[in-house]
Amino acid sequence: MQYKNYPNVQVMEHPLIKHKISLMRSVYTGNYEFRKLVEEVATLEAYEALRDLPLKQVEVKTPLETTMTPMIDGKKFAIVPILRAGLGMVPGVQALAPLAKVGHIGLYRDPVTHEPHDYYCKLPDPIDQRLILVVDPMLATGGSAVDAINSIKKHGGKHIKFMCIIAAPEGIERLANAHPDIEIYIGNVDRELNENAYILPGLGDAGDRIFGTK
Ligand code: PRP
Ligand code: URA
Repeated sequence: MQYKNYPNVQVMEHPLIKHKISLMRSVYTGNYEFRKLVEEVATLEAYEALRDLPLKQVEVKTPLETTMTPMIDGKKFAIVPILRAGLGMVPGVQALAPLAKVGHIGLYRDPVTHEPHDYYCKLPDPIDQRLILVVDPMLATGGSAVDAINSIKKHGGKHIKFMCIIAAPEGIERLANAHPDIEIYIGNVDRELNENAYILPGLGDAGDRIFGTK
């Protein structure tokens, strides 16, 4: 379903995605189960987001003859998680596209200003011909996603999609307005941000819940 008047922003409607996000929200869901749910939701969302994944013709020998048949061109696709929490979504996307290259962008939010600080960027080189799927479970103020995509564009990335599990309205609008050329896929749109820029009702700190750091 399209989000408001943003044709490039799609909100998932599948009941499996909604169900799994509800399980993720529960404070009683432990780290292991949370991590599995992040992966599963990433797989389901990626199925939608990767409809235009590039194919290449390859030769396959069937029991009857040799034929040319399409397969995903892993060399033309890259997954780029925003560290840390985005890492949790990578295996879910790789379940569908195991040959994808993986880049990494390291960002953390300043606890007071909530603005992102970059600490790492390593992308497949060259990047300009690839479809790039940037993944991060949380789109809160949108600062991290906007910054990550600025970096990818500076490195030459052109065909970029962003996929998250939960988004706040503020973050969606900031990202969609800053980068109107990218497609955005969202598991669920939550109500608002609190005074610490956490999403409400949300699921807490995704990185801490994936990696068990709190
Ligand atoms: C979280 C989350 C996003 C960011 C979203 O990461 O994974 O990257 O916050 O917030 P924003 O939309 O307001 O920028 P965090 O900075 O907590 O780092 P972590 O993943 O290492 O825990
Ligand atoms: N990052 C998170 O992990 N959770 C939020 O609610 C906001 C930012």
